[in-house]
Amino acid sequence: MNPIGVFDSGVGGLTVLRALAERLPGERFLYLGDTARLPYGTKTAETVIRYSVQCAGRLVDRGVKALVVACNTASSVALPALAAAYPGIPVLGVVEPGAEAAVAVTRNGHVAVIATEGTVRGGAYLRALQARRPGLRVTQVPCALFVSLAEEGWMEGAVADAVAHRYLDAVFNGTDAPDTLLLGCTHFPVLKATLARVVGSGVRLVDSAATTAAAMEALLAGREGWEPVSSYDEQLSGQPIPRFHFLATDGLERFARVGATFMGAPIATSELELVDL
Ligand code: DGL
Repeated sequence: MNPIGVFDSGVGGLTVLRALAERLPGERFLYLGDTARLPYGTKTAETVIRYSVQCAGRLVDRGVKALVVACNTASSVALPALAAAYPGIPVLGVVEPGAEAAVAVTRNGHVAVIATEGTVRGGAYLRALQARRPGLRVTQVPCALFVSLAEEGWMEGAVADAVAHRYLDAVFNGTDAPDTLLLGCTHFPVLKATLARVVGSGVRLVDSAATTAAAMEALLAGREGWEPVSSYDEQLSGQPIPRFHFLATDGLERFARVGATFMGAPIATSELELVDL
């Protein structure tokens, strides 16, 4: 059975892989983290598109049957280029499922989106949210430092609190404040406890991982029995076929160490492979 390909700029997309694996227990996964070129969130759209097409190409060469773009920054700019480059492969990003989840929970019609600079600049969440509910109020906040905090393992404590207050207090103080906080970046789910405390109990936190997994399940159900021509099993013939295989473009030791936090489980070095794009 061919795996589902998942890629991200680094380890953050493992939060999405984790949700996919929970929702789809019968599937195998091939994950690529472009750790050599992280972060994508501060780069131009042209560069992120080029990198994304290269990441996807490597996964397609390995025989994936579908692609999940776990990186929000890549999802917000690269989906049309990916569909054009790999027309036979269904491609799912995280922006549309995230927007769907936020629109479903907001009661006062005001959603705050926190994301990287690139995602905010591209405005993909703004468009996806307002396409679902015209007139919805959307406040976007670029929060680059949350990525570093998560990678450093500083998910809670005085530093995480101070950074969260600095980014979010101005947005969430006041009578017409958002009642929904959309986590528009792979790294932010691991900061949920801090974010929830800082924005207060009246605000619902939404991330796209679970809704993306549900969307992939629906996509696969609609294509039952469908597998691409090149077979993953053939490529690995003679070897036991693992449920997870991880490719990274740099730093396997760091990938396994930091990635375990995002994946919520240890990553064995035998599951890891260094690749050059
Ligand atoms: N994966 C990126 C995202 O979800 C965050 C890290 C980066 O900037 O590359 O937007």
